[in-house]
Amino acid sequence: MTAQASTFAAAPVSDSAPDPCTIVIFGASGDLTARKLMPALYNLALDGRLPPRLAVVCYARTKWSNDAFREEARKNVEKYSRRPIDPDVWDSFASNLFYSYGGYDDPEGHDRLNEKLREVEAERGIGSNRLYYLAVPPTTFVDIIEQLGRARSQGATGEGWSRLIVEKPFGVDLASARELNRVVHSVFSEDDVYRIDHYLGKETVQNILVFRFANSILEPIWNRHHVDHVQITVSESLGVGRRGSYYDGSGALRDMLQNHIMQLLSLIAMEPPLAIDGHSVRNEKVKVLNAVRLFEDDEVALATARGQYGPGWVAGEEVPAYHDEEGVPGGSQTETFAALRLFVDSWRWAGVPFYLRTGKRMATRRSEIAIQFKPVPHSMFAGRGGILQPNTLVIRLQPEEYIQLLVMAKEPGLDREGLRLREVPLNLSLDAEFAGTRRRIAYERLLLDLIEGDQTLFVRRDEVEAQWAWIDAIRAGWDANDVKPKHYPSGSWGPSAAIALTERDGVTWQDD
Ligand code: BG6
Repeated sequence: MTAQASTFAAAPVSDSAPDPCTIVIFGASGDLTARKLMPALYNLALDGRLPPRLAVVCYARTKWSNDAFREEARKNVEKYSRRPIDPDVWDSFASNLFYSYGGYDDPEGHDRLNEKLREVEAERGIGSNRLYYLAVPPTTFVDIIEQLGRARSQGATGEGWSRLIVEKPFGVDLASARELNRVVHSVFSEDDVYRIDHYLGKETVQNILVFRFANSILEPIWNRHHVDHVQITVSESLGVGRRGSYYDGSGALRDMLQNHIMQLLSLIAMEPPLAIDGHSVRNEKVKVLNAVRLFEDDEVALATARGQYGPGWVAGEEVPAYHDEEGVPGGSQTETFAALRLFVDSWRWAGVPFYLRTGKRMATRRSEIAIQFKPVPHSMFAGRGGILQPNTLVIRLQPEEYIQLLVMAKEPGLDREGLRLREVPLNLSLDAEFAGTRRRIAYERLLLDLIEGDQTLFVRRDEVEAQWAWIDAIRAGWDANDVKPKHYPSGSWGPSAAIALTERDGVTWQDD
């Protein structure tokens, strides 16, 4: 890597109309562009949400013309967009799509791309503000960033601002994430780097911030004095599908826990930020991530459970074992399920266990956070037969969107045989409450934030490094103690070790 003398010009956060700009997408022929980016951009165009002077220049190895690429993009939007194509909107959207081909490490290809960018920018009079989107496999990140650095040092990138957008995985461990950050920072300053965690683009995830910090009744009880423990579950009913060869090098810990679940944890456990902006919110999140107690090697076997799905039935369909999936090597020891108990060593959370779990081919698809409050200090109903459950607050992120507070109520009756008490939900259904509001996919929101230069929902360097430090400690513990994944039947809630993990503390997973 050639060290660059200067980084790109800093991008201002606009508080009015966004600047004209060009989105440069590396990985034009990939899955992410086809399934998410093009449909999201088109849907924003349909709603008139894209800046009037915006071009999208895509780059990949395939030798397409502009027209051939537009045709390809149309097919993908037809297939993956939630709304059908409106021919007039499409024509105007497609007239802003361009294509340039070349290898990711090929200087000639990048020179051709820069030439194309200059042409498009000059023709449209949109200046040289650029968003460079790495929608490519991580093995090509460094090559592309080096080429961007080269173009920059040759003055081929113009005077406008430049932002770099990086998809996950951002490294495979702390050392590789640090090295990637070093390369990124040799060309871009952190204020211009946008690391995507698509969970932060989800409406319900953003709602955690509003729910916690726009309602005064929660703060007094959101701490170790009132909370017994917290559970975070992200279960999927799907298997690895055709991503077996990627997934086998990753596993549940790195694929889901390092990023999405750690982000959920940080939003649940963070202190109130001063404002909703990139600095304030991320400062508070990173404090939580740094306060997560690292595992000692010998704790790992008891504080974690590791699983791999075997054959079974999911939603009435017979499904194969993980090791029989396409691209998965026989005898694979990669986990498709991980559960663990951690502690956040902070004033607010001292001594409160957080139980996290995620897995593929589980009983159902569900992302949920459950805050279990402490029991009442003395039950006046005990002598009358009433059994009390402590209150639980359930934040269901997907597939349904709701917040429920489980509270005790008396069953109607004369109570001659004793009091019957029942746990009933106080229910806020976000689906029903906002039924008339169109749901956006995460990428629509994230793309607009990128164009406007708002970093709040993107992961900062110190966050990603803190997340990896913690994951590395778990992996080291698994290696040191030879913790292998235990098989669990597809369609279940994971291996029995996951149940034992909570039962040892007298806690039951929230499974209904
Ligand atoms: C991705 C993981 O980041 O998130 C996938 O690589 C996983 O393995 C997906 O299936 C889950 O995302 P969502 O939005 O469907 O919950």
